[in-house]
Amino acid sequence: MTEYFPGIAHLHFIMVRDSYSWPYTPVPVTITNVSPANKMKNTYLWLEPATNTTISHKNRKPMPPEKPQYTRLIIFYFSGTGNARLAARKIAEVAGAGGVETVVYNIAVLKRDRPGIPQNALLGFCFPTHGFNAAPSLLNFVFRFPKGKNRVFLLNTRAGLKAGKLHIAGIGGLALWVPALMLLFKGYRIAGLRPLDLPSNWISLHPGLTKNAVDFIAARCERTLEKFTRRILTGKPVLNGLYWLPLDIAVSPIAPAYYFFGRYALAKTFFASSECNNCGLCIKNCPVQAIKTVDDRPYWTYDCESCMRCMNHCSRRAIETAHGFSFLIWWLAFSVVPAAILKALANHDFITSALLREYSGLLFNTTVFLTGLIVIFFGYRILHFFLRYRWINKIVTFSSFTRFKFWNRYRMKEG
Ligand SMILES: Cc1cc2nc3c(=O)[nH]c(=O)nc-3n(C[C@H](O)[C@H](O)[C@H](O)COP(=O)(O)O)c2cc1C
Ligand code: SF4
Ligand code: SF4
Repeated sequence: MTEYFPGIAHLHFIMVRDSYSWPYTPVPVTITNVSPANKMKNTYLWLEPATNTTISHKNRKPMPPEKPQYTRLIIFYFSGTGNARLAARKIAEVAGAGGVETVVYNIAVLKRDRPGIPQNALLGFCFPTHGFNAAPSLLNFVFRFPKGKNRVFLLNTRAGLKAGKLHIAGIGGLALWVPALMLLFKGYRIAGLRPLDLPSNWISLHPGLTKNAVDFIAARCERTLEKFTRRILTGKPVLNGLYWLPLDIAVSPIAPAYYFFGRYALAKTFFASSECNNCGLCIKNCPVQAIKTVDDRPYWTYDCESCMRCMNHCSRRAIETAHGFSFLIWWLAFSVVPAAILKALANHDFITSALLREYSGLLFNTTVFLTGLIVIFFGYRILHFFLRYRWINKIVTFSSFTRFKFWNRYRMKEG
């Protein structure tokens, strides 16, 4: 609500609280605006009003669910570029239209705090898929979530694409299943598992989708969300996620590898070009505070979840993916350096060739793993140091695909 919901004056109900003692029973407070003091404290929660229709992509009035079985809905969401937030808001809008008292929490704002959960409330979790996993922030949140018996739904947004009139789906991998299992172990009952293919935001890999494609996909997803919400609120299970299970299982071996790789390698592909004017917006907006200032320039730490918000929100388009540099450093990290180390070891007297043969696989993997980490860490530090020199910055920028004009940035409209 701080950085994600700038236009909050239209919201009718805001719940304000000062402490996060557990358990907590929220009390709605009717106000028309939020004071800057409350914004500063991040202590307000958002109760989606029944009459609010401004959050729809096309501003359509949603059809309310018939005879909802729940009186309360609590949605937790994490979002990088706005897709999961759109899902959370759309669901809240439909629920609100049906008179269901709905609260939407932004996980990035809640951080370690936990709101009280009324026993009869339906709980929802909306989050993006990252490398066939749920976003790390969501997993941490669910991991620390208290035990309960409520019904829950999970909705993971995936990389939707458009080809002609086709809406192409992404692949979720473990994204739905791991948090669903965690919640099951905590005693919750699964009422909904739904992937949703909103526009892909992975612009380090591909240019952002065109406006036409984004509008097409968003409109379809909004209709899906309306149907989903109406059905789930009437107490019927929505388990579309099960259709994807075979494919999800097939890609699941890649998911743990990405979880590691994403954290320790992808964060080190971002840099600020010489267009950066040090406005600090990326630092302020990062949902996990992963960017800090080092030598007067933004520096991406290992906390980065590659959610893509910074890159897509920088008003100067100054954040780029260092494709050329990353290929070079990964080649050194995972090929040249470990090969050189193993060759040196093989020439050394105290390591016999028999020992090398027996443990060759283990030795190779350990060496690649360790040198990979070390080379990437120092490589990025060195890059960051040299980026202060304009001509080096120009070369690194020149070797990046994201610098091209046609390489669109992406973020979902804020409703
Ligand atoms: C680093 C990264 C990894 C991603 N991995 C996947 C993936 O494995 N499968 C998929 O369908 N989409 C993947 N996506 C696409 C996002 O999940 C998708 O665009 C999502 O809707 C973004 O939601 P958000 O705007 O709420 O962050 C990935 C995106 C990023 C940035
Ligand atoms: S938002 Fe862009 S211009 Fe501002 S500090 Fe970050 S990279 Fe630089
Ligand atoms: S640094 Fe950028 S990509 Fe990484 S988590 Fe923060 S906003 Fe997302």
